Amino acid sequence: MDDYALISSITKLKSQKNALILAHNYQLPEVQEIADYVGDSLSLCKLAINSKEDIIVFCGVRFMAETAKLLNPQKTVLLPNLSANCPMAGMVDRNDLRKLKRRYSDAKVVCYVNSNVEVKAESHICCTSSNAIDIVHSQSSDRIIFVPDRNLGSYVEKYISTKEIIKMEGYCPVHASVTLEDVYREKKERPNAKVLVHPECTSDVREAADFIGGTESIIQYAIASDDREFLIGTELGVLHRLRNSCPDKEFFMLSDELVCPDMKKISLKSIYNALLWEEDPIKIDEDIYEQAADSLHKMLSITS
Ligand code: 13P
Ligand code: SF4
Repeated sequence: MDDYALISSITKLKSQKNALILAHNYQLPEVQEIADYVGDSLSLCKLAINSKEDIIVFCGVRFMAETAKLLNPQKTVLLPNLSANCPMAGMVDRNDLRKLKRRYSDAKVVCYVNSNVEVKAESHICCTSSNAIDIVHSQSSDRIIFVPDRNLGSYVEKYISTKEIIKMEGYCPVHASVTLEDVYREKKERPNAKVLVHPECTSDVREAADFIGGTESIIQYAIASDDREFLIGTELGVLHRLRNSCPDKEFFMLSDELVCPDMKKISLKSIYNALLWEEDPIKIDEDIYEQAADSLHKMLSITS
């Protein structure tokens, strides 16, 4: 089947089966085009919880599809390519976290949604890149264990001086690959360009940036800005929305390494097959379901 036939078959299946297609900002352009909604982790969480459809096809990585399932236990959630995993989510496991919780028994655990379900179940509350500062701030304890992203943790630390942040050692291999040299080199080429980076970048890169924010904030910043040129320090997929939303502005990547291979595993063909066969829907272990869902519901009750 060519792309045209796939698009029409997906559209038909979607209405026959009452399905919703959600896509993260890092998805391939053709996947973003077929989706009902495209957004960041937080907006997709909210859309999933408010959706009326029976099936959610989640075009993203596993932790995102698991999040949708945790928020919608009664719905079928399909991840079109089951091998699409966020490597950072696998960097910290439940046992590592339990050890740290025993050591710092007074601390609250704030867990980035880029984590596995067991880690969410061990945490007090979840956060995303767009609400991490507010969520940490909202916690009553003076000590926070932040999992799994050490870079997002150190970004939060910069804004919250009243709490001690114990960071675990996870990181995003894609964002952590951007270097200060990349920023200097690209800035030399385009001295007027504004540098917009994700908080998953390392602290030296963040410090050299004009704006730090999650994917949706980066898009909104570019839309609102009077500047014309931007250097982008997050995954390549955001260029699709940036260029569509700001046809009069120019966007360049800070580095060629900013491609998340797992985010690129979802294709039109895999969406079609997922909807057709409904094979291997996301399942959550019953023993941890309630605790993991609770950490997400707590986040959603705080964040606007
Ligand atoms: P956002 O929540 O900012 O979209 O980021 C998700 C992600 O995986 C970043 O690498
Ligand atoms: Fe995970 Fe990084 Fe890919 Fe985001 S870009 S899904 S944090 S590996």
